[in-house]
Amino acid sequence: MSGLAGRHVISIFDLSNDEIEGVFRLTDRFLSALQRGPLSLVAPRRKRGARAKARGNDLAAIGRLCTGQVLATVFFEPSTRTRLSFEAAMNRLGGRVISVADARTSSAAKGERLSDTVRVIASYADAIVLRHPNEGAAALAAESLDEQRLAELGRRVPIINGGDGAHEHPTQTLCDLYTIKRDHGKIEGLNVALCGDLLHARTVHSLSYGLARFGANIKCISPPELRLPRYVKRRLEIEFECVPAEYESFSDLAAPDRQHVIYAAEKRRRRAAKHLVSDEDLQEIIGRLLDVVYVTRVQAERFAEPERAEAVRGSYSIDAEVLRRIGRDTTILHPLPRVNEVDYAVDQDARAAYFRQASYGVPIRMALMALLLGRKRLRRRGKESEEAAAEKRVNHWGTTVRCQNPTCITNNERGMLPRMEAVGDTGLLRCAYCDQEQEASGASGGEK
Ligand code: NCD
Repeated sequence: MSGLAGRHVISIFDLSNDEIEGVFRLTDRFLSALQRGPLSLVAPRRKRGARAKARGNDLAAIGRLCTGQVLATVFFEPSTRTRLSFEAAMNRLGGRVISVADARTSSAAKGERLSDTVRVIASYADAIVLRHPNEGAAALAAESLDEQRLAELGRRVPIINGGDGAHEHPTQTLCDLYTIKRDHGKIEGLNVALCGDLLHARTVHSLSYGLARFGANIKCISPPELRLPRYVKRRLEIEFECVPAEYESFSDLAAPDRQHVIYAAEKRRRRAAKHLVSDEDLQEIIGRLLDVVYVTRVQAERFAEPERAEAVRGSYSIDAEVLRRIGRDTTILHPLPRVNEVDYAVDQDARAAYFRQASYGVPIRMALMALLLGRKRLRRRGKESEEAAAEKRVNHWGTTVRCQNPTCITNNERGMLPRMEAVGDTGLLRCAYCDQEQEASGASGGEK
């Protein structure tokens, strides 16, 4: 069995870098099969010649990989891309899908606990993708199956986090990193601007960890009240020595370098009697500051006071002016949906990659499903992450202190006990489910 078979993917940390690279290699294969497609679930189209025949067989083989397997997509929050791309992926692999597309149509509406719902669905399906409004919900689901699986199920049912509140969205990060790698041939050393609501956007939290792990430089562009949460920054700094630079706008980002450019140009001018740096030079040099711009919408549904969301909406956006400032090879990404943070006119620009990024969701999730369901193996086992994930789940947390994040699953699931751990000697406690930190004394509020 591959190291990934039966594993939960709750956080991007549940996959090692080697495993992520392995997912990407398989994605390349599935993507080219899809592009040659359509990936028929019945007989391959008739083609002439031995190579064409082999390709046809490949397509047919991919279309049978998950025959007889069932994926449950359980979405307690709205979704277009994540749910439908998982479902398309499972269909493309020859598997079948059962779905809860709306919490109001499941027994959650009658007050059923999430862990009960998940335990039941695990006896109907071979893997579960869960999206939930509470941070830590996917971790709770995984934990309830870990306790149950040997006794009742006799098999492993992977839980895949399709987004838990403002916490993480690891499979979106796979799509994001894959797009970056395809466009730039690497991730290491790239300059990536994370732009928008960095406080609440779960895609940004998972992506920032992924970028740091692959050695990219992170620049954050956001209004001051929407900066990365403290726990994300701390993790980036402690585990990867990565301290993202923070800016309020694209012009701030260029400012110090503009001085440098002008200074360099001044020296050149004196030497060669040429005139000061031209707009074109300036654009080229600013362009080199940013290889990728990743934009997110204001996550209005996560604001305690919705009026505050209105106040920051539109405080940053990608428009013709930003296009003029960024480089010719900069990739513009967005997990989508966009509201008003990327001008529709930007879609015509070759640098706009967000629809392509969304399309990679199918082959990425095909690769992930084939691996988690044990239908494909990776050449190298990602031992570290497997051990780290297991370690995290059996860790000796334990305190009666409650997590102060009101939307943490521990404050929304009946009968659930809190689990907090000390963060080194900082005097802080971190919640094992939502990762948010608070003073050990309990005196101050949560970190939002
Ligand atoms: C994102 C999400 O749900 O977190 N969407 C997605 O999965 N592609 C981004 C968002 O809702 O803003």
